[in-house]
Amino acid sequence: MAAGREHFGSSTAATLAMAGSAIGLGNIWRFPYMVGEHGGAVFIVVYLLSALLLSLPIMLSEAVIGKATHAGTFGAMERLAPGSRWKWLGLLTVVTPMIILSYYSVVGGWSLRFFGEAMARGFDAGAESFFGRFIASAWGPLVCHTLFLALTAGIVLGGVKSGIERFNKISLPLLFALMLVLMGYSLSLPGSRAGVAYLLRPDFSKLSPSLVAAAMGQSFFSLSLGVGTILTYASYMKKEDSILRTGIGTAGFDLLFALIAGFVIMPAVFAAGIQPDAGPGLIFETLPFIFAKMGAGAAWLSRAVSILFFFSIVIAALTSSISMFEVGVAYLVEERKMSRTGAVLLLFVLTWSLGALCSLSFGPLSGTRILGERIFDLCDRMTSDYLMTFGSLLFVLFAGWKMDRARVRSELGGDGRLFGVLYFLIRYVAPLAIVAIFISNLIL
Ligand code: TRP
Repeated sequence: MAAGREHFGSSTAATLAMAGSAIGLGNIWRFPYMVGEHGGAVFIVVYLLSALLLSLPIMLSEAVIGKATHAGTFGAMERLAPGSRWKWLGLLTVVTPMIILSYYSVVGGWSLRFFGEAMARGFDAGAESFFGRFIASAWGPLVCHTLFLALTAGIVLGGVKSGIERFNKISLPLLFALMLVLMGYSLSLPGSRAGVAYLLRPDFSKLSPSLVAAAMGQSFFSLSLGVGTILTYASYMKKEDSILRTGIGTAGFDLLFALIAGFVIMPAVFAAGIQPDAGPGLIFETLPFIFAKMGAGAAWLSRAVSILFFFSIVIAALTSSISMFEVGVAYLVEERKMSRTGAVLLLFVLTWSLGALCSLSFGPLSGTRILGERIFDLCDRMTSDYLMTFGSLLFVLFAGWKMDRARVRSELGGDGRLFGVLYFLIRYVAPLAIVAIFISNLIL
């Protein structure tokens, strides 16, 4: 291990950090609206399958590369395949999380704003138009984006152990407890049973290629795959810690959280008699409306729930945004020999600027289209449809075909049969499936 390189204190801490990266807006914001857009339980079934057969092998590939080298993406590739072009592909995966962070921080800012609103006033009649009015303005969202990014940078500045590790250790268990309370509340609402049925009874007639591609894409996003986040975090693991345990633990927690978020949101949506297919605005438009409606009965309860809900989202988003930030910091500190503070400042300026454009693209810049899309959507689509799938392909090919089998075997651990299955998934199934998603994203 490079002298002075930080690492996580234990295998549990590493799992918590990876789970913190995985669990985020992807679970609480994106997963529920994707389920709603794609017909409920059938999406969940495909999602579970792709998490197991596809995302887990990709995740383990990334982790193996990171842990074998104890370096960030760029350095890892250079160490395992010196002098080859792989390192430039490694660099690509340093850029991707910065683009994701730019727009992620905008949504993180919205969550902050909603948390503030829940604290200060609570939601009342007219709540459903609050979101639309808010994102169309220039300054509010910009200020919130700045705040969210500053919080992220502040935690990352603290370092791996005292910043990232400590924050995740406190916030994840808290988040888990909060979500359970919210689920209990949601399930207790009259009329929530229809929402439960919607999540549990698959209607296989809704199955389609675009549903499969969307489910796979969502599972990549949710597990932070293909951009070097998992690689970088795994590189902070100690030699004796098990990747297999950490990987399976992370994927398991992430799934659990997505499902819990589904059971928080859908029963409430159905109880309020709202359509589940509202799209990306689902939690920001529908939920305040639901809170406002419930507020008529027990104002304090709906107020408390709305505060808890948006607080949870902010925390979940932060544990993920710090992981994206850390990828860039690791690169600048280790490969460019910058100081941690300098790296954090530089990345702050870069991601803030792109994020500001994303934020303004709902307001003053809404007329500006690049390739026919608004800037925010362009960043989102470019990363989740292409760069992340491309990065994932790169990692499985690297672990499956470029790295020595014995090296992968020894890093991964576990018994021989399990390794055989995983290695087969890494070498053949995952690359083929990723190429298929890529093509379907291009033509669908
Ligand atoms: N997985 C996180 C979520 O579900 C988002 C995230 C963190 C991410 N790091 C990432 C997404 C890297 C893509 C790439 O919210």
